[in-house]
Amino acid sequence: MKGIILAGGTGTRLLPLTAVLVKQLLPVYDRPMIFYPLNTLIKAGIRDILIIVPPEYSGSYLNLLGSMFSGRGINISFVVQKRPGGLPEAFILGEDFLDGGASTLILGDNIFEDDFTDAIGSFTGGGRIFAKEVPDPERYGVVEFENGTGKVLSIEEKPSVPKSRFAIPGIYVYDGRASEIARGLSRSERGELEIVDMHRAYLDRGELDVRSISGAYFDAGTHDSLLEASVYVKEKGFGSRFHPIVNDAISEFDAEYKRLVSLQK
Ligand code: TTP
Repeated sequence: MKGIILAGGTGTRLLPLTAVLVKQLLPVYDRPMIFYPLNTLIKAGIRDILIIVPPEYSGSYLNLLGSMFSGRGINISFVVQKRPGGLPEAFILGEDFLDGGASTLILGDNIFEDDFTDAIGSFTGGGRIFAKEVPDPERYGVVEFENGTGKVLSIEEKPSVPKSRFAIPGIYVYDGRASEIARGLSRSERGELEIVDMHRAYLDRGELDVRSISGAYFDAGTHDSLLEASVYVKEKGFGSRFHPIVNDAISEFDAEYKRLVSLQK
């Protein structure tokens, strides 16, 4: 199982912040946002991770993460997405990296408290998405599923009358057919490949299941949700509960940075 983090996009809802810095390097309390999805993947046992970055900020990502995890058993690779073309593009840009294997795709601005070790470790094939109960499902992709079996009954994008209260958060597990399926999708009216069409492709084959998550979840793509995530992280000490590999890598990066700064003085 490999991991992909989507760390580009346009970030229009976070302007003017995103006019000067890519969204996933903005701070969530005391750390760049990207560490949260990275931590989610590493905590779940994933060791090969591809980060999809926009051209303008590829150097910033490389400076931060290029060698931070070397010697820690985590392989980080990068690929540049020239223009945001939709979430399923991850499987096309990542085709060589995936080499026909299964993957977990996570959005670079999605912050999860849940541990996905079991949900990802028990994955055997097809597609697996997640469901989070929310008070305002009409704002999200909504999944209706059979209790007990996790069998998906329907998926609707921002429905005016939702069939359930379960939103689909930005973490998806697909088998080795994901790249081929993504290549076969058509662009929507907004000119993008749509993740809901990936889910439907697996649903139509009867190979999509869903697991519900219960921990805190933030899609930190708006000013309010970014602030909420920061406050939550500070109050719950969420960042300090990162996987030891991530915490050690950050501490060592900080120490090395301070050492270099002191040499310059
Ligand atoms: P969105 O939040 O849907 O889009 P956005 O980040 O461009 O924001 P806005 O709607 O405010 O303009 O994207 C979800 C995540 O996926 C986010 O982390 C950005 C990332 N992304 C890419 O890396 N490439 C893409 O082609 C798209 C569409 C999104």
